[in-house]
Amino acid sequence: MHVVTIGTGYVGINTAAALAYIGHSVWGVDVDAGKIERLKAHKAPISEAGLDALLALPLDLKFTTDLSECVQTADVVFIAVGTPSLPNGEANLAYVMSAAEDIGKTLVPDHDVTIVVKSTVPVGVNEMLERRIRERVASNGGDGKYLHFASNPEFLREGTALLDTFYPDRFVIGTRDDLAYQMLYALFEPIIRQTFEMPAFIEAPAMRPDTQCLRTDQISAEMIKYASNVFLALKISYANEIAGLVEKLGGNMADISRGMGMDRRIAPYFLQSGLGWGGSCFPKDSLALLSMARDYGYEMPIVQAAVDVNARQKTNLVLKILYKLHTLAGKRIALLGLTFKPRTDDVRNSPAVDIARDLMSRGALVAAHDPEGLEQARIIYKDDGFVFCNSPEDAANGADALVIATEWEVYRTIDWAKICRLMRKPILFDARNLMRDHRDLVSGFDYTGL
Ligand code: UGA
Repeated sequence: MHVVTIGTGYVGINTAAALAYIGHSVWGVDVDAGKIERLKAHKAPISEAGLDALLALPLDLKFTTDLSECVQTADVVFIAVGTPSLPNGEANLAYVMSAAEDIGKTLVPDHDVTIVVKSTVPVGVNEMLERRIRERVASNGGDGKYLHFASNPEFLREGTALLDTFYPDRFVIGTRDDLAYQMLYALFEPIIRQTFEMPAFIEAPAMRPDTQCLRTDQISAEMIKYASNVFLALKISYANEIAGLVEKLGGNMADISRGMGMDRRIAPYFLQSGLGWGGSCFPKDSLALLSMARDYGYEMPIVQAAVDVNARQKTNLVLKILYKLHTLAGKRIALLGLTFKPRTDDVRNSPAVDIARDLMSRGALVAAHDPEGLEQARIIYKDDGFVFCNSPEDAANGADALVIATEWEVYRTIDWAKICRLMRKPILFDARNLMRDHRDLVSGFDYTGL
């Protein structure tokens, strides 16, 4: 099939590349000319395991900044642009609206084409976009009978985006339009039925998944996305709340999470306590859900509590550091990890950055290292007062305390004895519990987990 994806961020580029890999003819469109140039040179605009290798294959995958170059022949057009938070928590729909405008003014349909919203959008936005595109197409003299619409939310994670794209738990297709459903089912069929040849450049799961395909109406599909993300976020907040009590009562939170997770109804995932959740999805989607509820005068105390516990988790850590050092003014804090989770270079909305800012606002100097995120952090946080360090040792040199803020595997095996010698005081706050089961390696430290 002929496919166009508008947006070449995490969702757009992984979807485009995976669809090309399973045999479709795909165009990736983005307004960012720099990104498109990189992609034309087979270079991924983001750091994602296996993506460069996938883009290097001889796929039918082309890139442009000009939608009119490819939209006319498309069978399926994905809208996969960002919906970041506005200051009041609402999702910013400017990019999806602009993508819809572009489709509306360039497409004069002469065959069936399904327009699919993959971006995470508040409930009701699919319907609004459909109306807008239909109006625009009609005003250009286009025939609306060829237009079909569906919501198809995305569940991939940064860092394992290709793994999640090729081996998903489920597809959700929200549409009342039979043809739209059939087209999307046919498009994804090799993945739904797991009949494609497993790519060598990503680690395959031990067993192919039993991928489910759920058809719903558009509103339910939109809500499945928010309800899933926020459920995962509140699972983590719940683990963090329990961990706080366990710290007072005694007990081992790792064992408690393991024990809870052995119940299949609970499942072992997203029960890891620590500094809390960040990234471009959970914070934004929990605020957007609260904002949607507010519009209807409906309270969501569980979601609000998950957000509050997540904020408290970060403040609690800063207070623990303050109590231990008595004052933060003039103290040097080594920060290991800046990304919002390991295996990504994404430092946006990172809990590590939040605590660093809090520490700095209390007068501390933060010397930060990250194995993958330094380059991005140096750009995004250039005016925030960080001392960026090229090695954990540089960060630790002369530090009054060290915080592990992202659980990068490489930190487990650094020379902790050397780090200990380099520090002014060997005080370690393991905010991701990376060393919890390896305490012998950090035996010289005054150790606090979370
Ligand atoms: C999340 C969802 O997991 C994806 O299913 C979804 O498609 C995506 O958002 C999205 O909406 O686009 P992602 O933001 O890449 O994916 O990251 P996660 O792996 O879910 O982690 C989110 C945060 O939770 C990270 O800061 C991580 O450190 C934290 N976390 C995760 C914990 O603190 N404890 C855990 O047990 C798991």
